[in-house]
Amino acid sequence: MSRNIAAMKLSGLLLRQLQPGLSPTSRFGNAVIEASKISGLRGINNIWNTMPEARNSSTVASNAGKEEKTSSAPTGRVADGTNDQANNKTIISYWGVAPSKITDEDGSPWRWNSFRPWETYKADTSIDVKKHHKAVTFTDKFAYWIVQGLKYPTYIFFQRRHMCHAMLLETVAAVPGMVGGMLLHCKSLRRFEHSGGWIKALLEEAENERMHLMTFLELSQPKWYERALVFAVQGVFFNGYFLAYLASPKLAHRITGYLEEEAVNSYTEFLIDLEKGLVENSPAPAIAIDYWRLPPDSTLKDVVTVIRADEAHHRDINHFASDIHCQGHELKEFPAPIGYH
Ligand SMILES: [Fe+2]
Ligand SMILES: [Fe+2]
Repeated sequence: MSRNIAAMKLSGLLLRQLQPGLSPTSRFGNAVIEASKISGLRGINNIWNTMPEARNSSTVASNAGKEEKTSSAPTGRVADGTNDQANNKTIISYWGVAPSKITDEDGSPWRWNSFRPWETYKADTSIDVKKHHKAVTFTDKFAYWIVQGLKYPTYIFFQRRHMCHAMLLETVAAVPGMVGGMLLHCKSLRRFEHSGGWIKALLEEAENERMHLMTFLELSQPKWYERALVFAVQGVFFNGYFLAYLASPKLAHRITGYLEEEAVNSYTEFLIDLEKGLVENSPAPAIAIDYWRLPPDSTLKDVVTVIRADEAHHRDINHFASDIHCQGHELKEFPAPIGYH
């Protein structure tokens, strides 16, 4: 009997992972239902119009962005998922934490919860996108061939489906920074020492990669089998990278450096096909316009260009980190490139 219950729970968990929102009895759905049942407690408890899981509606063309900004947040509370359905749902909590009122430069409410105006930036697209670290040592060659071994199956799987390739690539690319940052964080605590800013630099990289993913989600949605693939790949890659970083940070950073080189190459291919007209050069999603401070009339080509510049910066950071280790030093001895875009 208990085995049946466990099997049902496991299948429910998998269903939620592969198709979030499919089941009306999902954990989040239940929370909202419960919240609406007890909304009579208004006045005793704090009620916030938050819906953290809701996807934002930034697929609207950029020139409609300003209008949407004001219309989507009548109460001044701006959720990531700025749609009416999201704003109608409430979370009730005795512990309600007051949301900060953040405005854009023009005074309109800031429409994103996942990033703030001071985290936005103009990408440095002048960075050399052709730079390559020549594999000389055994570690370099090992890292290089691991990445080459991972690259070919993905090229065969995706071929010229760039949007899909980019979206799934970002789910992997956002892992190394988080794993490295987490391990450096623990090391700093364990050894009672500073990190030289490297924890922050690596976590920034992870967050930046996740923003790439959020951007592509505005343009394409993963199919159920792609979600399943990400589920499996994340389990293997997270643990594999974790062990690699524990064993040899210089190898782990070199692997990431080469992964980033491949990311730059795949975005270059994406840009070539956009220029040839093989991929539609659609308007840039609003999230990209705000995050990279792009002009309102920007297109997908501009978005891919700034994302490629980000990848080139990640490439530099990781090869630099590996070089520090290769030369017999620790990362904390050299100031980390925080805010390197
Ligand atoms: Fe990325
Ligand atoms: Fe990257």
